[in-house]
Amino acid sequence: MSNNFDIKDPSLAGEGRSRIEWAAREMPVLQTIRNRFLRERPLQGIRMSACLHVTTETANLIMTLRYGGADIVLCASNPLSTQDDVAAALAAEGIPVYAIKGEDEATYYRHIERALDHLPRLTVDDGADLVSTMHSKRPEMTNNVIGGTEETTTGVNRLRSMERRGQLRYPIIAVNDAETKYLFDNRYGTGQSTIDGIVRATNILLAGKQVVVCGYGWCGHGIALRAKGLGARVIVTEVKPVRALEAVMDGFEVMSIAAAARVGDIFVTVTGDINVIDRAHLETMKDGAILSNSGHFNVEINIPALEKMARSKRRFRSAVDDYEMPDGRHIFLLAEGRLVNLAAAEGHPASVMDMSFANQALCLEYLAKNAGKLPVKVHPVPAEIDGQVARLKLAAMGTSIDALTEEQQRYLDSWEQGT
Ligand SMILES: NC(=O)c1ccc[n+]([C@@H]2O[C@H](COP(=O)([O-])OP(=O)(O)OC[C@H]3O[C@@H](n4cnc5c(N)ncnc54)[C@H](O)[C@@H]3O)[C@@H](O)[C@H]2O)c1
Repeated sequence: MSNNFDIKDPSLAGEGRSRIEWAAREMPVLQTIRNRFLRERPLQGIRMSACLHVTTETANLIMTLRYGGADIVLCASNPLSTQDDVAAALAAEGIPVYAIKGEDEATYYRHIERALDHLPRLTVDDGADLVSTMHSKRPEMTNNVIGGTEETTTGVNRLRSMERRGQLRYPIIAVNDAETKYLFDNRYGTGQSTIDGIVRATNILLAGKQVVVCGYGWCGHGIALRAKGLGARVIVTEVKPVRALEAVMDGFEVMSIAAAARVGDIFVTVTGDINVIDRAHLETMKDGAILSNSGHFNVEINIPALEKMARSKRRFRSAVDDYEMPDGRHIFLLAEGRLVNLAAAEGHPASVMDMSFANQALCLEYLAKNAGKLPVKVHPVPAEIDGQVARLKLAAMGTSIDALTEEQQRYLDSWEQGT
């Protein structure tokens, strides 16, 4: 292990570089920001620690921030999501990277500590492990932090919990909550890449299968939609009445997980919640049921219970573990219950990460510009940034839209005119 990186194999850099370049072709908004950052250097000399899935899209974000002048280090935000060739390519560019696909939990947290050793003034997180480690283990460091950004729903939930308890010590922007993030990344990104992960892991035909999607949030919307498109019969489980109703009217069957457990062929959890598929459900599943998770943490399926119940376990394919139950049933768990789209495939397509990471880059610039001025809380993405990302993406796609006429603007601002 060298001083300034801990990666699997530096010789993978060439392959990584080529794949990063491929992703860049689908990231025109980030490219526009990168060109401006190169000229203006808005992040000049600012120490930054990023804890993100180490993918080709992330590499494009990291290079954009570096072109903006940031002094940046990167660690993994999940033990199984790192693309080792990307880590190698970034390390070859002189970016300190701490990430190895398949690292154990101790290594994962050691890598986060290494990223914190950089003494960041800005943090970039996906799931809030970097921020929570800093707050709980090295709270004195928070005094020097200008602010941070958070990429995903689960991370934002954790940060809001810290804020409610008065434990958050610096301002953080909830990038996840930008419309140009969750409406596209969570829905279309997770929708496509989760199916991609399940298919790459199993090579199974989805047509005709009963696919159970647990959680009808933005990710669940996307997964259900894409599974239906491939001919699956989709069942949704929910705890929120409005979301359940929406699923019914979107044409899906909605039932309790207890009922779905008995009929499902393929299960995908995407709730951000714990033990959504629990012991009692594992007991009633069909022989051959396939379990996967696309939520942030590997707690949505009760894996410790599955481990205890099984009389034997073997690795069937690289991302498929076969648990044999005492009654002879086999239950298959994909990617150890970690985000199946990142652990068994390549994560979201670059075109949606273009918008998520454009938000990241612009929010980090905003934090740097407003250093010391923002109250300590979880902030929304400024509306101008969200709007700017949408405009740039439409322009890059060659799509033009209408503008309000003066008459229309006046009408919309008024109340006088009725029937
Ligand atoms: N795989 C990825 O690349 C990726 C991308 C974006 C977000 N995420 C993660 O996916 C998860 C979901 O994100 P989201 O944006 O869709 O969140 P969301 O809050 O929009 O939706 C979650 C839904 O799950 C439901 N839910 C909670 N507990 C449940 C239970 N026990 N049974 C059934 N439904 C339950 C909630 O009512 C809610 O409707 C989060 O952990 C998020 O961080 C993953």
